[in-house]
Amino acid sequence: MENGTLLKAKAEKFGLTEGITEWILTTKNAAGEEISANAAPIGIIQKNGKICLRLFKGSKTFENLRREEYFAANVTDDTVLYAESAFYDLDENRFEYREYQPQAMPAERIPVLKEADCVILFRCADRNETNELLIIEIEPIDCMIQNADKPGFVINRGINAVIEACVHMTRYELTKDRAYIDKINQLQEIVFKCGRKRDREAFEIIMKRLQG
Ligand SMILES: Cc1cc2nc3c(=O)[nH]c(=O)nc-3n(C[C@H](O)[C@H](O)[C@H](O)COP(=O)(O)O)c2cc1C
Repeated sequence: MENGTLLKAKAEKFGLTEGITEWILTTKNAAGEEISANAAPIGIIQKNGKICLRLFKGSKTFENLRREEYFAANVTDDTVLYAESAFYDLDENRFEYREYQPQAMPAERIPVLKEADCVILFRCADRNETNELLIIEIEPIDCMIQNADKPGFVINRGINAVIEACVHMTRYELTKDRAYIDKINQLQEIVFKCGRKRDREAFEIIMKRLQG
């Protein structure tokens, strides 16, 4: 099996970059329920060399990852999948199962989305629970391409926010309508929270331009 450092480097090529990236997580429901897998959009946070999930109480993903050791992060640029999995349960026929063999343990079957372009399998390494929040430190255990024709890309709200801010800035320069400045200021928080170092640098360019 590949070691942790190699796996992290490989996962980065699959889109697991610094900041917060938005994936569709697939998890196993408790045994006995009619639907045995669940999908939901969830951010994966990579900061200071650690990879974490922050799960708010009340979701199926929260309940599933409180119990299950393994899950998958699915890569897709299909926004319909984000909307569907955020608000509805997906049919079981949208999932398939990847087998993973931990050392000296029974094989695990981890649900993934058939429609995903790429998939990273993860193990929950450490959990920290408060009243409302479950923070889980996670580590990649395998990466796979599912759609050989399409590398796929992972959504990052920080990157999107920089592009939006650039659009607002160009419109402000054209019209001098101050409503665009408010929009740019609102995007700043997302860039700093979710973006990479490069995205913060890009935002600084817009801010400097705004300050003349
Ligand atoms: C792009 C995006 C990112 C999200 N990130 C998180 C997150 O990091 N943690 C979380 O608890 N909920 C997050 N959510 C909200 C969950 O997806 C939402 O609560 C969902 O309904 C949970 O579905 P489930 O009950 O099937 O798990 C996010 C939603 C979207 C659209």
